[in-house]
Amino acid sequence: MRKIIITSALPYANGPLHIGHILEGVQTDIWARFQNIKGNQCWYFCADDAHGTPIMLKAAEQNQDPEKFIKPIREQHIKDFSKFNIEFSNYHTTHSKENRELANTIFKKLEENGDISSKTIQQAFDQVKNIFLPDRYVQGICPKCNTKEQHGDSCENCGATYSPLEMKDPISILSQTIPITKESEHLFFKLNNYQKILIEWLKTHSLQPEVKNKLLEWFKNDLRDWDISRDHPYFGFEIPNHPNKYFYVWLDAPIGYLASILNYTAQTSELDFDEIWNKNSDYEVYHFIGKDIIYFHALFWPAILTASNYRTPTSIFAHGFLTINGNKMSKSRGNFIAAKQYLDHLDPEHLRYYFAAKLSNTVEDIDFNLNDYMLRVNADLVGKFVNIASRCSGFLAKHFENKLANKLHNEELFNIVSGKSEQIATLYENREFSKAIRIICECADLTNQYIDQNKPWQLIKQKDISLVQDICTMGVNLFRLLTIYLKPIIPMMAISIENFLNISSLTWADIKSPLLSHTINKFTPLTKRIEESQLIKLQEHNMEQDKPKIENEHITIEDFSKVELRIAKIVSASHIEGADLLLKLELDVGEEKLRQVFAGIKKTYDPKDIEGRLTILVANLKPRKMRFGISEGMVLMACNKENVYMLSPDSGAVPGMLVK
Ligand code: 2FM
Ligand code: ZN
Repeated sequence: MRKIIITSALPYANGPLHIGHILEGVQTDIWARFQNIKGNQCWYFCADDAHGTPIMLKAAEQNQDPEKFIKPIREQHIKDFSKFNIEFSNYHTTHSKENRELANTIFKKLEENGDISSKTIQQAFDQVKNIFLPDRYVQGICPKCNTKEQHGDSCENCGATYSPLEMKDPISILSQTIPITKESEHLFFKLNNYQKILIEWLKTHSLQPEVKNKLLEWFKNDLRDWDISRDHPYFGFEIPNHPNKYFYVWLDAPIGYLASILNYTAQTSELDFDEIWNKNSDYEVYHFIGKDIIYFHALFWPAILTASNYRTPTSIFAHGFLTINGNKMSKSRGNFIAAKQYLDHLDPEHLRYYFAAKLSNTVEDIDFNLNDYMLRVNADLVGKFVNIASRCSGFLAKHFENKLANKLHNEELFNIVSGKSEQIATLYENREFSKAIRIICECADLTNQYIDQNKPWQLIKQKDISLVQDICTMGVNLFRLLTIYLKPIIPMMAISIENFLNISSLTWADIKSPLLSHTINKFTPLTKRIEESQLIKLQEHNMEQDKPKIENEHITIEDFSKVELRIAKIVSASHIEGADLLLKLELDVGEEKLRQVFAGIKKTYDPKDIEGRLTILVANLKPRKMRFGISEGMVLMACNKENVYMLSPDSGAVPGMLVK
């Protein structure tokens, strides 16, 4: 039996989870569940990543102490993950006593080894807020291509990377003032001391080609020292014997994996921390991560572990980014789905299934295409899989008191489907979930064809009763095999199926033995089809909840003059089928054609009451494609949490008139 420890990346404690986090949780959880069903022992650890400047500033914005601020966020993360049936052995936080002790011990070891140097560096400093600025908090003109409004670390236009001090016209996004350059002493980890060890690690561990290539690229040059300290004010752990210096969040974040395990092992005898982390450990350790953080996990992390006398990870499993309908997930662009928002409208196991159907072991991006999602879940999960049980269970209930026959009607077919178990297991092991699902669906097709060919509904009329029992028993047995194959992906549905089949928890070992001469329970529907209206609700929710927040305190007059406001007359207003919040408006803006706009005002206004009214439209907003059509602008409203209030001009204003 293998003993396996896995982790997924620690979400920042600065806001709710989005479905990108869920993608990674689902990938890791499916793998953990597969290992356990297969008879191995697998523990899954995670935690909140609680430190750093953005979290400190967000807490300050809400007039809260960061320690208080991060607590409910962690609780909410735990809730959201659990609703998606992502099950951790432990979910800790990096702001914990275990993490502080581990970080301190590791740092002391690095100092003893001579792996820490100190250097005075120059950094952008905000004199108004009295804080050194992380690179992302400085905006300015790219020094290479002169593109405006770039972040202080890299240019979105030409891809150049630089320091904020090299930018033209830098500005602090915290105070909108020009930062000064200030000196400060920082502590560095001498990564180059570990180059040889890292090369050895790369050679002796089986890594994805993408991870390997990245490492080889970095090894081409000397590895640069890594700045691991930050100045006060900072939310993190103060570095022992270095007053006012704090560990950089990326130093103590991966140590958070160890802390979560340490916190767990203190409460149970099933695992021992030192047994896992000593250099001769027989545990396997894997980190599931997004491709954007390979650098931290494949370079710094094995070096830090080696330097502090711990074993290194067995491998690192990187995945691609999640896109939504082909576009990057972005709150400000209205292309964002929070975990809770998904849960308000749709079934978590449907998303698990869809993600699994798209996941491979490469770093290719994964697209959450809402149409494709609806079609796949309805066709595969409902149409192919669940359908088998509903087709067979009726006959068994009506004519055989739910009793299964004592033999398999088509042993060859049973052997074909059970014979796929090794191939499917290998695909799970290699994180090729989409390929596993393809084979499982082929097995479901074979099962449905078997039922189609044997036509129990005709046999029952011909009074060939015992043959119907045999055929339905066969169908139920194939359904049971498919359930074992799908169990890591749809664990809750699998529990309902185990109840229906009146059996204890299924494992991979149950594949070989069929279920015969056994009484099952009454069948109740296992899942529902996804309806178009649910997707509409998800999207209108998206429109309402995720309007971009204004990050900066001021906009310039030029910014404001970009917005074209015009008087619009509501020519018609109507309901949209399936929508809870939106009304469809046709507006006269003094143009030849009427404009179509979707507005989130259904809760406050009846369509009939607003037809003929004048209001104000943002007329030059980029048109947005929605499920129900294109929205060509946005109607302005005054609003509080409960209501919206339409704005109307005084008499004299006419459609198309500019509002300035
Ligand atoms: O990128 C992130 O969201 C980080 N919070 C991940 C940390 S993973 C680990 F190193 F702790
Ligand atoms: Zn540039």
